[in-house]
Amino acid sequence: MSRILITSAIPYINGIKHLGNLIGSQLPADLYARYQRARGNEVMFICATDEHGTPAELAAAKAGQPVAEYCAQMHEVQADIAKGFRLSFDFFGRSSSERNKKLTQHFAGKLAENGLIEEVAEKQVYSKADGRFLPDRYIEGTCPNCGYDKARGDQCENCTKQLDPTDLIEPRSAISGSTELEVRETKHLYLRQSRLRDKLDAWIDSKSDWPVLTTSIAKKWLHDGDGLRDRGITRDLDWGVPVKKGDEPWPGMEGKVFYVWFDAPIEYIGATAEWADANGLDDSAWQRWWRTDKGAQDVRYVQFMGKDNVPFHTLSFPATIMGSGEPWKLVDYIKSFNYLNYDGGQFSTSQGRGVFMDQALSILPADYWRWWLLSHAPESSDSEFTWENFQVSVNKDLADVLGNFVSRVTKFCRAKFGEHVPAGGTYGPAEHKLIAELKKRIRAYENFMESMEIRKAAQELRAIWVAGNEYLQSAAPWTVFKEDPDHAAAIIRFSLNLIRLYAVLSAPFIPDAAEKMLQALQTKNDSWPDNVEQALSVLPAGHNFSVPDVLFAKISDEQREEWQARFAGSRD
Ligand code: MF3
Ligand code: ZN
Repeated sequence: MSRILITSAIPYINGIKHLGNLIGSQLPADLYARYQRARGNEVMFICATDEHGTPAELAAAKAGQPVAEYCAQMHEVQADIAKGFRLSFDFFGRSSSERNKKLTQHFAGKLAENGLIEEVAEKQVYSKADGRFLPDRYIEGTCPNCGYDKARGDQCENCTKQLDPTDLIEPRSAISGSTELEVRETKHLYLRQSRLRDKLDAWIDSKSDWPVLTTSIAKKWLHDGDGLRDRGITRDLDWGVPVKKGDEPWPGMEGKVFYVWFDAPIEYIGATAEWADANGLDDSAWQRWWRTDKGAQDVRYVQFMGKDNVPFHTLSFPATIMGSGEPWKLVDYIKSFNYLNYDGGQFSTSQGRGVFMDQALSILPADYWRWWLLSHAPESSDSEFTWENFQVSVNKDLADVLGNFVSRVTKFCRAKFGEHVPAGGTYGPAEHKLIAELKKRIRAYENFMESMEIRKAAQELRAIWVAGNEYLQSAAPWTVFKEDPDHAAAIIRFSLNLIRLYAVLSAPFIPDAAEKMLQALQTKNDSWPDNVEQALSVLPAGHNFSVPDVLFAKISDEQREEWQARFAGSRD
């Protein structure tokens, strides 16, 4: 049994995420967590809301709420939607938690002790109209790198370049729109991450098994000159983790907070501590996942994220960990994703374009979305959601192939033998041929799941369903029954066992349908088919079952057209 720590990039608190966000981190992380649990490994799957910084403040202001209240409320909203999608977090934390605050201050203190923090008097944009400094997202303007005219002060959404607000061309206040901006002096803490360049470089070089998407972005930032430039990790804001050196005050930094990108990844640790607190466990319970001097040396740590998050996870956060000089767990594998586009354009939160998580669940159950998104995960390149493609996938893969198999087998059995596994006959050449094929395919499926090749895993799973259908079609128990009922009984006994096997294999992708299948079969046996022959004789003759309701309803052309029209505009 291995121990596997899994984190998904923690979503910003400001609003409900769209399907592109979901497939970029939380959903594939959930797939992997469910798979690893099914294989009997000990899993800690962590996510949280990213609550600090300007995005939260701006969204709260827009909602007319105090920021703490807004965050508390939106955390619940996001937690409910995550449940709706069956995201199986062991804990869904909050970066504004006391745990994260303490850990963030602790790391800053250690970095300072190790000479990795510098106090810099820097020039910041000040807005006269707003009467305040304008950090990060409080400023918008044109990206000096690609010319995108809605670039934010911290990062250009279009080309992913990390920016400083003073880099922007024709800057304006995101609060008031005012261009009456001036540069004033203020003092901030800088993380001297450039001093860790060689260490980071060697560390990335040692990760030859990482996806190219991850390492190419990391290498680009390491080598293109300013990627590892020392960066400010504090801000002139009210909302955030107050700047302290461990438990001590930090002279000259009163009234300032840490930059959101400094405290957010630390919340991976914070949320694990929150998990321990929520379960009445002591510190050793979370430290065995995070401290290599306290058990975490045996942990494999895998992170999931969209490509825009890669620089922070390959450089900044590892710089925090390494720079602390303490034995914290570094990530072992980073699975990153390209973008999912929506019907000929981009999903966009700011423009409300695309399908958002709450809307998706209001029209169809989670499994439909999970299947489509995972089987079209934007791994090697960007991918695109279209309603036509969604309809075809659901109707073919889920309804025609899997759903139909379950329904035909259970209904035929009820009609001819009653609602129990029929006795009689033995498994013959057709069954052994299918077992041989399944052995090969299940091992391939396991390999793809292990290496997080999600589309390939989905393809293999679909092929496993198809193989069962083809078997049933050619074994034709409905014809055989007339001449040789015992033989038909053996085919059906085998097929009912296949349904259980399918439930177990499919559960990471479509957990609700898998659960319904096991319930219909009246079994709690969800053991992984390490031995395929054995797995296909788990349900003995005489075992009762019941015919389940339709597992997957087809999407009609009318529905597709209606949704297409409904989601064509912007959200509000
Ligand atoms: N909130 C960020 C986003 O949605 C992700 C933060 S990931 C973490 O892009 F590592 F900082 F936690
Ligand atoms: Zn740009």
